[in-house]
Amino acid sequence: MVQTQSYTQPTENVSNLDQSLFLKALRREQVARPPIWLMRQAGRYLPEYRNLRSNVKDFIAMCEDPSLACEVTLMPIKRFNLDAAIIFSDILLIGQAMGLDLSFVEDKGPIFSAGAQTKEQIEQLDVDEASDKLSFVSEAIKLTVKELKDTPLIGFCGSPWTVASYMVEQGSSKDFRTIKKMAWCEPQTLLSLLNKLSMVSIRYLTDQVRAGAKALMIFDSWGGVLSDEAFKTFSLDPTQTIIHALKQNPITKNIPIIFFAKGKHSLYSTLANCGADALSIDWTVPLSWVQMQTQDKVALQGNLDPTMLLAPPEYLKAQVEQILTDWGNRPGHIFNLGHGVLPPTDPTQVQRLIDWVHTFSKQG
Ligand code: CP3
Repeated sequence: MVQTQSYTQPTENVSNLDQSLFLKALRREQVARPPIWLMRQAGRYLPEYRNLRSNVKDFIAMCEDPSLACEVTLMPIKRFNLDAAIIFSDILLIGQAMGLDLSFVEDKGPIFSAGAQTKEQIEQLDVDEASDKLSFVSEAIKLTVKELKDTPLIGFCGSPWTVASYMVEQGSSKDFRTIKKMAWCEPQTLLSLLNKLSMVSIRYLTDQVRAGAKALMIFDSWGGVLSDEAFKTFSLDPTQTIIHALKQNPITKNIPIIFFAKGKHSLYSTLANCGADALSIDWTVPLSWVQMQTQDKVALQGNLDPTMLLAPPEYLKAQVEQILTDWGNRPGHIFNLGHGVLPPTDPTQVQRLIDWVHTFSKQG
């Protein structure tokens, strides 16, 4: 194995991390097996999470307490042989830091107070101090990287469009009518909100890297509800503003960025050139097809349907093997789900999934 000699920080820890399967796969270097981690790997399907959560005021209080956020981040790492951790937090905390009240209501999801519906209200939203108000995330990252040692930690934020959709709709939405109406009737107002979110996200992600995040992921869960043209204006452009700023800053320029544009299949060839190092792919298209669209310009992460973890073990196994066979032994694959682990998932199934990715790769 060829080892690079010129580490900027010659500590054992840094060099081990740099050679981790996850970071190598993101650089599209050849690896013995694809690394695996799972979106929402720290969440309600874990009994230890539910137990801790029942003793804390609410989900936001867990995120805001660095030692609790650290403890939850480590839960799946202690239980399973995963190749990356993701800091326990939420994409919507940025809206709270900009001045809106946020709460998570049992069985209803997130609720934002009014305050991002008119031009005047959007002008009031704070940019300058918002990233400082999120400093508990950096504190949690500092605590977590000390514990993780050789496992890289992923920092993250939501795409401006996805975060704005919750802020403008004041929560989850079926048809995104309020934010879309704003896009068609008052595009400059929406663009000013998206720009504010890009500015805060740049500082927020930079702070996460300063604290020890070794990769970044941008979640665009709802860009797929837009036409290609509208997606470029309202989702991709503000996301690229973030990516380009990070790639120009000496602190963040070598940190790989994963972009998850859920459901935006028609634009994969465009997304391959968006500046991200990897794309996260949902389960509705084969990775080999995405690879043809992206032409080896980016690594690909995915793409098991999270509901497969609810299927009989043999069925799950066949699906895992299908994804690995379809990909073959090309470099640049990170095994993951096409969306987050669902709360009713049995952790034994997650264990099986991880074992099968490991053993299949050895046989192959
Ligand atoms: O383990 C991890 O992946 C890291 C933590 C993480 C959470 N949310 C924790 C969480 C991450 C990366 C997110 C991202 C996130 N949050 C997204 C993008 C990815 C996606 O799922 O599409 C979005 C859209 C959100 C917004 C959000 N957060 C919603 C809509 C909800 C309610 C729905 C639900 O799943 O309960 C949340 C709550 C949330 N975020 C939970 C967790 C563990 C559940 C909180 C609880 O009740 O304990």
